[in-house]
Amino acid sequence: MSISDHALNADQAHQALQTALTLHAHKEGNLLPILHSLQDQLRYIPASVIPALSQAINRSRAEIHGVISFYTHFRTQPPAPVLLEICRAESCQARGANPLIDQVKQRLDCDFHQKGANGQVSLEPVYCLGLCSQGPNAMINGEPVAHLNADALEHYLKEQGVQL
Ligand code: FES
Repeated sequence: MSISDHALNADQAHQALQTALTLHAHKEGNLLPILHSLQDQLRYIPASVIPALSQAINRSRAEIHGVISFYTHFRTQPPAPVLLEICRAESCQARGANPLIDQVKQRLDCDFHQKGANGQVSLEPVYCLGLCSQGPNAMINGEPVAHLNADALEHYLKEQGVQL
């Protein structure tokens, strides 16, 4: 299930939790895989699933909230329709990620962890996508994009319907 720009309802959250539990609840160290699965399905981790998750895996709500807030990867609010994650790790930096990031921030008129282009794009950092020799790299709505530059990104965003 992929949810882009419509509101999440309780059934979707419940179904996503059941899927995550079916896949991972039986494993040792199940909390992180469950959280990843929830975010993969829903694009963020809604607070409404925490009580049922807590009960299902016998971990306190505080512990679950602590893990979610510790890892910057996890989102507790829905991202914009386009989620742009740019690699900030060393190899991409060496291949020009920083000037690109400056251009992107200016173009979208936002910083990391914010929404830009009138709320159409969420800009997030990631740290290595495993494509280091092809940097600068990014993920756009979960799809890896290599050899990124400002012109290619602008073209790509316009294809996604983003007005810049
Ligand atoms: S450093 Fe960017 S993909 Fe590895």
